[in-house]
Amino acid sequence: MDPAALKNSWALVAKSGDEVPLFFYSHLFLSHPEVREMFPVSMAAQRDKLVGALGAVVSNAAQIDEVVPFLQQLGRDHRRFSVVAEHYSAVGASLLATLQHFLGAAWTSELAADWAEAYGLVATVMVQSAEESAEDYPAWWSGEVLGVDRRTMDVTIVQIHPERPLEYRPGQSVAVEIPYRPRRWRYYSPANAPRSDGSFELHIGLVPGGQVSGPAVRSLKRGDPVRIGAPVGDSLKLPEEDGRDLVMIAGGTGLAPFRAMLEQLDRRTQSSQVPRVHLFHGARMPWNLYEHKQLTSLTQRPWFSYTPVVSDDSSYPGERGQVGAVAAARGPWTDRTALVCGSPAMVRHTVAHLTEAGVPTTAIHTESLGITTSAGSQQ
Ligand code: HEM
Repeated sequence: MDPAALKNSWALVAKSGDEVPLFFYSHLFLSHPEVREMFPVSMAAQRDKLVGALGAVVSNAAQIDEVVPFLQQLGRDHRRFSVVAEHYSAVGASLLATLQHFLGAAWTSELAADWAEAYGLVATVMVQSAEESAEDYPAWWSGEVLGVDRRTMDVTIVQIHPERPLEYRPGQSVAVEIPYRPRRWRYYSPANAPRSDGSFELHIGLVPGGQVSGPAVRSLKRGDPVRIGAPVGDSLKLPEEDGRDLVMIAGGTGLAPFRAMLEQLDRRTQSSQVPRVHLFHGARMPWNLYEHKQLTSLTQRPWFSYTPVVSDDSSYPGERGQVGAVAAARGPWTDRTALVCGSPAMVRHTVAHLTEAGVPTTAIHTESLGITTSAGSQQ
């Protein structure tokens, strides 16, 4: 396998932009109409979800060792789309046909052999990991909405009860499909430490122009059926009890995983030492500080302090600005572990400010809300 040839040929194909997924999906759905129903009804806004990743991942297959855990997770995740081993042949054939179409004369028999080998390697890791996980847990959990609290005009708190127990760790995320947008799964992080009845709370924020967040915030109601994917995410978690204090920085509904961690810490108080935690919650306008009361009341705990930060209201009497910049300026946090969650832009900005303020990158743990596979934001 020639790694440079794979990468260069994909870079060449990618230059054709939206034409590439258009060709790929036309080929796939014509040759295998049975897979059409796995994908969202309208593909307009997200043609590139699969194809871009497919090309990028497979063209890097020569360094597969570095991405095996990622591919295993991706394979397990694909179970919720009802993907099974034979579908990989269909997708592989359409990928090769797409490459051939866009590369023209550059599609040599050596290159074809390299791509086929690379795809085979990637697909094998994904399929094996999916099949192994099938012994441990279902492809998805059926669940029901227990209650909905329209907390602000753009944040809704939803209580969900999965039919079967679903084990997650505070800081992890679950993909959720709502009945109003079939097959458009979105990741959310449960906002509570695990409860004995298995129910959990999601904080859903309205994303301007979002295809799923609109009905999720406005239409979801008690009794609605939902599907839930297996918990994912390893980067955001409470550190082992290493004696280090914490600073948590959240943008918008990026607060959810921290709520779960705070609940977990609060349960610890009796049994062991709790680290000091300072939480910064950033929002555009004061009314977007949707947990202000609850967090203010939690400051009665000796280990917890909280600073709300507002960016877009010049009359706000408290801390104003981008939450990451405000938090970094309120340091030093050089002796604390920093946990950051929010939109990809908020996370990037916050990490830059913390690093500039002297917090070592190894002490900064991040998660972009809902993103567990590749970069980008979800709507
Ligand atoms: C090497 C093989 C593959 C790779 C690297 C890959 C990669 C990806 C990635 C990164 C995503 C986005 C995930 C997310 O948003 O959570 C995705 C979505 C998806 N994949 Fe795959 N995939 C592969 C094979 C397949 C196969 C064989 C099928 C079955 C036909 C499939 C069906 C889907 C579906 C239905 C989605 C959701 C698409 C959407 O919402 O627009 N994938 N894939």
